[in-house]
Amino acid sequence: MKAQGIDILPVEWIKEVINNVAERLVVVDRNGIIRYMDSAYCDFLDITPMDAIGKHVDQVIENTRMHIVANTGIPELSSVQPIKGSEMVANRYPLYVNNELVGAAGTVIFRNPQEWLDYSGRIQPLLEELQYYKRKFEKEHKSKYRFSDLVGSNPRFMEAKQLAERGSYSQSSILIIGESGTGKELFAHSIHQNSTRSHYPFIRVNCASIPENLLESELFGYEEGAFTGAKRGGKKGKFELGHMGTVFLDEIGDMPLLMQSKLLRVLQEKEIERIGGQSPKSVDVRIIAATHRNLEEMVMEGKFRQDLYYRLNVLKVEIPALRDRREDLLPIAYLLLKKLEKKFNRQGIYLSNAVELTLESHSWPGNIRELENVLERAINVLDGREITMEHLPLYLRDQEDSAGGSFPSLSAKTNQEEPIQPLKDTMAAVEKAALERAINLAEGNKQKAAKMLGISKTSFYDKCKLHNLP
Ligand SMILES: Nc1ncnc2c1ncn2[C@@H]1O[C@H](COP(=O)(O)OP(=O)(O)OP(=O)(O)O)[C@@H](O)[C@H]1O
Ligand SMILES: [Mg+2]
Repeated sequence: MKAQGIDILPVEWIKEVINNVAERLVVVDRNGIIRYMDSAYCDFLDITPMDAIGKHVDQVIENTRMHIVANTGIPELSSVQPIKGSEMVANRYPLYVNNELVGAAGTVIFRNPQEWLDYSGRIQPLLEELQYYKRKFEKEHKSKYRFSDLVGSNPRFMEAKQLAERGSYSQSSILIIGESGTGKELFAHSIHQNSTRSHYPFIRVNCASIPENLLESELFGYEEGAFTGAKRGGKKGKFELGHMGTVFLDEIGDMPLLMQSKLLRVLQEKEIERIGGQSPKSVDVRIIAATHRNLEEMVMEGKFRQDLYYRLNVLKVEIPALRDRREDLLPIAYLLLKKLEKKFNRQGIYLSNAVELTLESHSWPGNIRELENVLERAINVLDGREITMEHLPLYLRDQEDSAGGSFPSLSAKTNQEEPIQPLKDTMAAVEKAALERAINLAEGNKQKAAKMLGISKTSFYDKCKLHNLP
């Protein structure tokens, strides 16, 4: 045996290899006499190799052209050859040994098209399933915005944007500060999108909406059997899910003190320990945290750990409130209108002069999100293309006379002028208006808003979700 190439393989092995590859093989000599036929080809023809070998190929395989190729030395590739009622795809190669034409080798790629269909029929659903999960993963764990989506020419805003953009290239933690609805989440998405981690997950955790007793398992995960009700096989926490990517800790100011210590340990050790776990796992995540609260004040009041604050506050990006960047109001309003036009399949919507002036003079406690809600509401009640005062919510229309606004559907004016709606719609509108007002008055502090309304935080979140409020 020569120690090179295929010669190193024993003949029995070579036969087995040929039998196992997807293609079916036949070899003929110059006279078209079959010298070899692999067992899969024989099975398909319902014969044994002994039946085939030594016979002229024309007697064994229908419509064959192997003897012709063995004679002309001209290959024939991808030709369709009907055999036993099925169309097969055949390749025929002349065989040259020491520069002399000695015969031909032929393969069949798919035994028949039906088999290919069966095969693809089995593969197709798997590919679709894979696509579904890929899309779902991308939707959930990918950042959706980039810096070019952040509109504004106000100097303070541009400064914040530039700082965030520069910071995105580093691995340092970033703290985003801004009132509710100023675009903190948009900034976090853009930073991730612009970073070297953009191909890895972007995981958002809303520290305010996860009940305190679940926060730990959400962040760090748990092992199977860690507690009653723990899922089989355990569960990965957000830090593990975000490995190599970015974890966005939204509303960090609402994180309970105990969790703050645990978070600090993760940031220091770069390791997490699942609940009920035996050994720590190392994780590599970049942290972006955001809050509308004054963390420095909270540190002084002992409500936020100072050491954690320093760890997070490596780069501080402060987004100005909308009322402090009035020059950006109309450009943002028109950008939002464009987005809403797409959503509602409308075109050419614009604001009347009076509306532009009203929007410019409002104080926007709910910032861009409030503006977005106002415009969405207007489009909902708009027949033509011009948004006029009557399309604005009452608290904006009545701005001057009732500074702070009144509940729309309860005012005397409404009772007289507006047609009667089904009671359930009126109740829903009143509830929504009350929620909006509380959110505005509490300057986005949800806990405070829930307290003002005299309802629990959970029920507050449920209601906000129901009414599509932030
Ligand atoms: N500069 C901007 N240009 C255009 N749209 C913006 C801009 N900033 C924010 N938005 C829009 O405003 C809305 C609120 O933004 P975002 O959710 O990022 O705010 P937030 O500060 O995280 O608010 P909250 O504190 O309520 O969570 C989003 O719908 C976003 O698309
Ligand atoms: Mg947010």
